[in-house]
Amino acid sequence: SYPIIYVFVLLFSFLLVTSAHTHEDFLQCLTLHSEKDKPISDIISTPANSSYTSALNSYVRNTRFSTPSTPKPQVIVTPLGVSQIQETLYCAQKHRIQVRVRSGGHDYEGPSFVSPVPFVILDMINLRNVSIDEENNIAWVQSGATLGELYYWIANKSRTLGFPAGVCQTIGVGGHFSGGGYGTLLRKYGLAADNVLDAHLIDVKGRFLDRKSMGEDLFGAIRGGGGASFGVIVSWKIKLVPVPANVTVFTVRKGLEQNATQILHRWQYAAPNIDRDLFIRVLLTGSGSVQYGNRSVHASFNSIYLGGKDKLLPLMQKSFPELGLVSEDCTEMSWIQSILYFAGFKNGQSLEDLLNRTLTVNSYKAKSDYVRQPIPEAALEGIWPRFFEKEAQSSVTILNPYGGRMSEISESATPFPHRAGVIGKIQYLVYWSEEGTAATKKHVRWMRRLYAYMAPYVSNFSREAYMNYRDLDIGKNKKGRRTSLRQASVWGTKYFKNNFKRLVFVKTVFDPTNFFRNEQSIPPL
Ligand code: FDA
Repeated sequence: SYPIIYVFVLLFSFLLVTSAHTHEDFLQCLTLHSEKDKPISDIISTPANSSYTSALNSYVRNTRFSTPSTPKPQVIVTPLGVSQIQETLYCAQKHRIQVRVRSGGHDYEGPSFVSPVPFVILDMINLRNVSIDEENNIAWVQSGATLGELYYWIANKSRTLGFPAGVCQTIGVGGHFSGGGYGTLLRKYGLAADNVLDAHLIDVKGRFLDRKSMGEDLFGAIRGGGGASFGVIVSWKIKLVPVPANVTVFTVRKGLEQNATQILHRWQYAAPNIDRDLFIRVLLTGSGSVQYGNRSVHASFNSIYLGGKDKLLPLMQKSFPELGLVSEDCTEMSWIQSILYFAGFKNGQSLEDLLNRTLTVNSYKAKSDYVRQPIPEAALEGIWPRFFEKEAQSSVTILNPYGGRMSEISESATPFPHRAGVIGKIQYLVYWSEEGTAATKKHVRWMRRLYAYMAPYVSNFSREAYMNYRDLDIGKNKKGRRTSLRQASVWGTKYFKNNFKRLVFVKTVFDPTNFFRNEQSIPPL
């Protein structure tokens, strides 16, 4: 066995040497190409720097991907401007090191900050300028800004302007807009990506492109097809939308003993067809345990209405009386206060909290589904026992209604295809704090069982999924191997339906060598 061990040792040393070589060369290249007044020491962090761990972990939002065995980047680059992004891309290509772009780090499965091959994180944290033009209802926002920062600066200029994007204030604009991005205004105004007017992108050749110079194919692809396959998006021009000076919010919680199942069943008919000024999502949680026999499921109907409660109450009485909404359930507030309300801030917190970039994180696994036919009551009842299993102690299932503006935009207008005919989207989430692979496996298995149970009740011609709720269970590119169109279609059509083919075409034109890649990037032909 001696010669075999010898070969392994040699191979191992060779791999070590080549990876160290790559990383050193990359840094040398950056030093050589950086402008004199912009030293790279200001923008790089390697494992040798004391700042490395915090630079890496501050934007890891799922501790499932920050274990000792999680592959770590060789370098974290935090560019201060466009030229440093161009230099990073140039040197990474020259020295064959993979680049993962990170804006807010909310990627559910980690591809923005984890890679199985030697890699660099291009972290957009320093590029977070937000500039609001309230006269013309537009804004430019850089990819490294969070949604909280965007909302804060909009509200700073106007009480009657808003933007239709996500609920969690720490999400990064870069990943969110490029994957679609939805929030409480989606029934009125569609997705964040539907309201993007222009973008600045750096492509694989280092060219700085805007909408005109990149053309409509690439501009279309980055509005829902995920930015990571196509380039580095530096900033976005967005259309701000009108919101009333006062909106109304409510959260009504029903347990099984208060007919939660029947009300939820009825919600599927009411919520997607009701006035588009009204958005009612549902959060489902289990409570109690088999042991004590005090089990219940709670459905929290969590809502915003773009108007006062004087109009909301008759509307609910007419279209969704089963919920039994009364005036005392409702609170009027400004749109920006509703952002705090949905983000889970308690009364008394100030708008400045939207600028806070810290997020308490755990390990979690998520999946998504789209509902096109109402789920029967009996099928809903079949879900509940799963919430009482011990793995589900910290789980939540969230249903978001579609309809309204979402039904008017054609399936092929952007890569995001889940439009007319969709009743709503389901997101399943399970969290845990125990460390170790056994805990991960246990919870992930629970999630997969729930997903399998749901199969007959959700869109299943091709089971649809939301790209921004990345799920590597549905398929991924294999390390170091070319992915065929057929293989990639397995997850590609779930996220994008027929638009997947168009994304492959755009990828082939703009990044034929597949430099911008990750576990679920679009492959070129
Ligand atoms: P991150 O930086 O991890 O990037 C995600 C992907 O985009 C990666 O592939 C990355 O490489 C790529 N990318 C990032 N910046 C880029 C850039 N500048 N150029 C090119 N590619 C870039 N979604 C939703 O629609 N509505 C919601 O309400 C929520 N709520 C929510 C809450 C929480 C707690 C989490 C963790 C996630 C959500 N999401 C969500 C999902 C969220 O929209 C999704 O994870 C986004 O991709 C996150 O964008 P980040 O920039 O934060 O992620």
